[in-house]
Amino acid sequence: MTTETPRTGAGAKSLKDGGTVQPVREILWGSNAGAHKYETAEELDSDMRKLVVKLMVVQADTEFASIQQHRPWLDRAPTLEDRWIESRIIADESRHGLQACRILRDFGEEGQRFIDELLAKREGQHKLDAFNMPFLTWGDVGAFTCFVDRVGVYQLRAFQECSYGPLARAMPLMLSEEQLHLNFGASVLRRMVQEGAKYYGSKEEAQAAINKWYPRALDMFGHSNSETSRRAIEYGLKRWTNEEARERYIREATGLTHAIGLELPPPEFDRHVL
Ligand SMILES: [Fe+2]
Ligand SMILES: [Fe+2]
Repeated sequence: MTTETPRTGAGAKSLKDGGTVQPVREILWGSNAGAHKYETAEELDSDMRKLVVKLMVVQADTEFASIQQHRPWLDRAPTLEDRWIESRIIADESRHGLQACRILRDFGEEGQRFIDELLAKREGQHKLDAFNMPFLTWGDVGAFTCFVDRVGVYQLRAFQECSYGPLARAMPLMLSEEQLHLNFGASVLRRMVQEGAKYYGSKEEAQAAINKWYPRALDMFGHSNSETSRRAIEYGLKRWTNEEARERYIREATGLTHAIGLELPPPEFDRHVL
């Protein structure tokens, strides 16, 4: 069973009465709903342990990969403010990678082995296609942050208030930082459409970048009938199946893209993972 709204602790003094927001201590969905959240790696059975490790390895891999993708634009972005935001995004993604690795570190030698592998990966060696493609134009940076980072936000939201406490507590700050990346991506595309070469590129270049990155973004949600995502819900780790999350994302991306004056290709266009 999935649930949408995190509850506050029972018996907590309300905010109006001078109380504070209570951390959610119980598991909110899945086969163990109502029990106390897991707080240490040792409490997890071997299957759930493997799953948390797998999810964190993928998470950290995307964070470190995107640093490599953004890096060439640190001093090539069109405006000084864009360069500052690029450096800010790189700092945020480093922190997100660090945060995922801190969770992995709690899994002892096994976790450390994965951290060492993650840090050794170079461009082109990452798990997901979207993170092996270089940013060739500034439009790539805009479409990537607008569409690929937005998938990242859906993945993080799926972990909000999940059954593994250390992961649940990492979400609020990561989500607020990702919000800057999404807004930035949308504003780059909007400026390309509205200001054209006075800013950078053109409406056509913005559209071409969307056609390139949107299919890779949809692929990132994973296979529709994924056994891993079904187990992640049962363990209370994720709120949505891959397909549910992808559908929510498509609805949001459609409205946003139209508002900028651009079009999304159909969901089946140039897809590799269905
Ligand atoms: Fe991130
Ligand atoms: Fe990001």
